[in-house]
Amino acid sequence: MDLPNELRLALDAALRGAGQAELRTTAAALSQRYRAGHGAADGPPEGVGYVRSSADATAYAAYRMPATYAAVSAAMGAISARLPGWTPGSLLDAGAGLGASLWAATEIWDDLGSAELIESEPAMLALGRQLATRSRHSALAAAVWRHANLTESWQTTRHDLVTATYVLGELPTAARDTLVDQLWAHSGHALLLVEPGTPQGWAIIRAARERLRAAGAVIVAPCPHQGACLLAADDWCHFAQRVSRSKAQRNAKGADRGYEDEKFAYVAVARTPGTSISARVLRRPLIRPGRIELALCAPEGTRREIVTRADRARWRMARDAEWGDALPDE
Ligand SMILES: C[S@@+](CC[C@H](N)C(=O)[O-])C[C@H]1O[C@@H](n2cnc3c(N)ncnc32)[C@H](O)[C@@H]1O
Repeated sequence: MDLPNELRLALDAALRGAGQAELRTTAAALSQRYRAGHGAADGPPEGVGYVRSSADATAYAAYRMPATYAAVSAAMGAISARLPGWTPGSLLDAGAGLGASLWAATEIWDDLGSAELIESEPAMLALGRQLATRSRHSALAAAVWRHANLTESWQTTRHDLVTATYVLGELPTAARDTLVDQLWAHSGHALLLVEPGTPQGWAIIRAARERLRAAGAVIVAPCPHQGACLLAADDWCHFAQRVSRSKAQRNAKGADRGYEDEKFAYVAVARTPGTSISARVLRRPLIRPGRIELALCAPEGTRREIVTRADRARWRMARDAEWGDALPDE
């Protein structure tokens, strides 16, 4: 996946003034803080944000935003596939950072009308606003950016689509359930939660999924069923999205490759069901001479399927299947 042109140009402009060496050092320190915080058993301590300055926000733009954009965009694509006639009129993005969810939403749903973004770090708000001025989409240009702390009192109206991407894991464990309830209460139709594709990220998504199910939400993606998650306790449901990276992004990470693979876990729920699917591809398909092995999540649980040329229709489907794809009803 390539970033949309306007976002790529906006990021390049934001990074142009940053010294290369400083950007790399700041990105490395930020990455180190993320690793330490996400590894903590109870989540990060209250009130200790990872991004703490405008230099950090610029480093985030180079080192994380393209990847979070790509993951959110892939998850929104899965929602759109299962809710084909639906376009959100408004978006609420909680813990918006630099607005990756809004940029992705405008690409998936061109008719998105308005957006409200909530963010606690002033440096993220400032840079997010600046990037958004580079878009010609009215939802980005006229977005309302609000300074608020999601673990304190915050209120707004209902929005058709609510997102919290790479945010729950930044909150103390005890604050997550309340926020999930609040986000669902503010959703007019759909709610999307995205976390890193690690066992910890998946544990957060799995807990939120069960909580939302209990609250009457209908699972839209990635799951092909509405029951309790049947994945083994030592496994984790995650997907990957490849995204190309610019020279400035490569520099911030000290990386040579022109792309990166962002691993992510997600759940999307809604108030009414989407189109049904028979299964979701849970791993990159293993292609061997004469056979393709698919790891699938299906309504009856997870299963491995070996597809051979003997079933021509199934073979064609398996040959085109990619990690994360939904398989249509048979
Ligand atoms: C990892 S970033 C993700 C940003 C964006 N959603 C994305 O996907 O790129 C997490 C964001 O959540 C914000 N955040 C963390 N705790 C918050 C809180 N209690 N209230 C509001 N925002 C918060 C952080 O400042 C940061 O900008």
